[in-house]
Amino acid sequence: MKILELFPLTVFCQPIGFPAPEGHPEEQKNSWVQHILQMREASDPPRSDISAWTGDVKGHEFLHKEPIFEPLFDSIATGVETYLQQMGLDSTQINLYLTRSWAVVAYKNERVNRHAHLQSHLSVAYYIQKPQEGGRLAFFSSGPPNEFVPGLFEPRMGSLFTSPRSPANSANTIVDVEEGDMVIFPSKTVHATEPHQSETPRISISADIVITLKESKNHEFLLPDFSYWKKMNT
Ligand SMILES: [Fe+2]
Repeated sequence: MKILELFPLTVFCQPIGFPAPEGHPEEQKNSWVQHILQMREASDPPRSDISAWTGDVKGHEFLHKEPIFEPLFDSIATGVETYLQQMGLDSTQINLYLTRSWAVVAYKNERVNRHAHLQSHLSVAYYIQKPQEGGRLAFFSSGPPNEFVPGLFEPRMGSLFTSPRSPANSANTIVDVEEGDMVIFPSKTVHATEPHQSETPRISISADIVITLKESKNHEFLLPDFSYWKKMNT
């Protein structure tokens, strides 16, 4: 018998710690934690009692422009290059642009509901503070290739299965990330976090990346670089 597992979703996870070229990593972590908590306290609260605070909708969506995070985004850039190599892509032919980056703060019982970053190509999540009981990251398949009956892989259909579910017969997968991890995945992938369980807040940074072609001649699908675009309105 031969079983072929086809069409995987690749989620790239790399421990990068707390990049601090001129200081101690633990001090770097603490300065980022304090900076983000102050940002959260000075802004509007989350939408509900169970929603995590997400800086992208609170006026704090350009962390990559803030000097305090420069070492982090340098490490993220290196990580994205490695991800592209893993995918067999020639990164010398493309331009990578950070378009948005923001913090997410989850206190106990707070979570991030299912969503995707549909305006983006690649997304990054980096975990600055992640207690062991912290909400894990969940990925959802919008159309599991093996779900031959629609709805078959929903959690409430579990009594129909004789063994623990695997990626081959699930519509979602949980990834238990560690503090200091960087996760890279296609932005169109639907994802969420479990409700946070710890008294210590879970703090992460999300970033969106758009990819353009350096040379668009003879290529149909990727965007030409934005330097060739022409703004049409005033
Ligand atoms: Fe997200």
